[in-house]
Amino acid sequence: MAAHLPFAAMKIIRSLMIPVLLGSAPLAAVADDAVKALLPVFGKPLTAAKLPKDAVARAQVELGRTLYHENRLSRDNSISCNSCHSTTGFGVDGEKFSLGFDNHRTGRNSPTSFNAFMHLAQFWDGRAPTVEEQAKGPILAGGEMAMPSAEAVVAKLGKIDGYEALFQKAFPKSKPAITYDNVGNAIGAYERLFVTPGRFDQLLAGQAKALKEPELRGLKKFVSIGCVACHTGNLLGGNAYQKLGVQKPWPNQKDQGRFDLTKKKADKMFFKVPSLRNIAKTGPYFHDGSSDKLEDAVQRMAAHQLGKDLSKEDRADIVAFLRSLTGKLPKNIAAPPKAFPGK
Ligand code: HEC
Ligand code: HEC
Repeated sequence: MAAHLPFAAMKIIRSLMIPVLLGSAPLAAVADDAVKALLPVFGKPLTAAKLPKDAVARAQVELGRTLYHENRLSRDNSISCNSCHSTTGFGVDGEKFSLGFDNHRTGRNSPTSFNAFMHLAQFWDGRAPTVEEQAKGPILAGGEMAMPSAEAVVAKLGKIDGYEALFQKAFPKSKPAITYDNVGNAIGAYERLFVTPGRFDQLLAGQAKALKEPELRGLKKFVSIGCVACHTGNLLGGNAYQKLGVQKPWPNQKDQGRFDLTKKKADKMFFKVPSLRNIAKTGPYFHDGSSDKLEDAVQRMAAHQLGKDLSKEDRADIVAFLRSLTGKLPKNIAAPPKAFPGK
């Protein structure tokens, strides 16, 4: 493992080993301190996003909400962003591969749109820098929403009674107001509210009792076994690219991840380390959707990334910890628009 992990990550793991060992001492106070000593690597707690008060910012978010749930952004008016990234379903659809235009299945598993704007980049291979840029991809992707061109999207929205006014309110300085970039900008403004704090954030904020056993045991094992080397920061991931199959090759080599994008040998099988927020709710797992169950995903991670065969007990504890990472998107953000223009 050492040869492949960034030096900083190894240092973090080593410095964390000592408190982990202390954690097995019987005194509750010592245990609390041991847990606290593990937390700096996870950074600051997430805080829920609020709908903006500023009128223009609010108009952008509301336009974004409408577009995110808008089926008419697809060629046959049947698919929206929400079809594959449900705001009431933790930003996913629960499918191994999602259903796009004309019964086409996506080539990769749909990652969650929740908390995604905080990642270092978007997509499994990081090919879009921001959620605003990302949003312009699927609308034109043949196997997803399949609109023929950016111009066709702008023309279609322009013909629907009411969209012109919504774009003008959201982008008062933009002439014309309806542009393909503004479609991405509005959807991005909405997605930037997709923050899902939960009990783990209470722990990060200093409430030692926010997690219980076996979740705390799982947290210690997550750190001591080495998961945290890649799944770090307050999203437990989303901030680095790493090789899938560091210790043992991943069985499915069809998709080479970042290599397919950069053509650099060093990028073979490199994928963005996914965030583990809400992970209990976002299966199937991996870019190829090859694990249905979290238990299986954890076992395979230990084997392929760390060269370890987890005991049943270690696996159960880590899964209990991962289940504690389920948060919630506030209802006022998850809700679809009250009405769609022209309907
Ligand atoms: C047919 C299903 C489908 C539709 C419709 C769809 N997506 Fe996706 N989305 C995916 C898949 C599959 C990926 C991963 C593709 C990849 O990494 O190559 C993805 C990736 C993403 C990501 C990146 C998340 C991450 O962790 O990297 C975001 C954000 C996202 N989609 C938002 C949207 C938005 C906004 C729309 C509407 C404009 C949309 N999606 C429409 C299937 C879909
Ligand atoms: C060397 C870096 C590394 C280590 C160590 C590591 N992971 Fe991962 N993890 C990744 C990468 C990269 C992916 C994305 C793989 C893909 O492309 O499907 C991933 C994916 C996952 C997923 C699936 C996420 C999803 O949304 O589909 C889970 C769950 C997971 N890891 C948990 C763990 C656990 C638990 C450990 C410790 C036993 C661990 N990981 C150790 C890099 C790592």
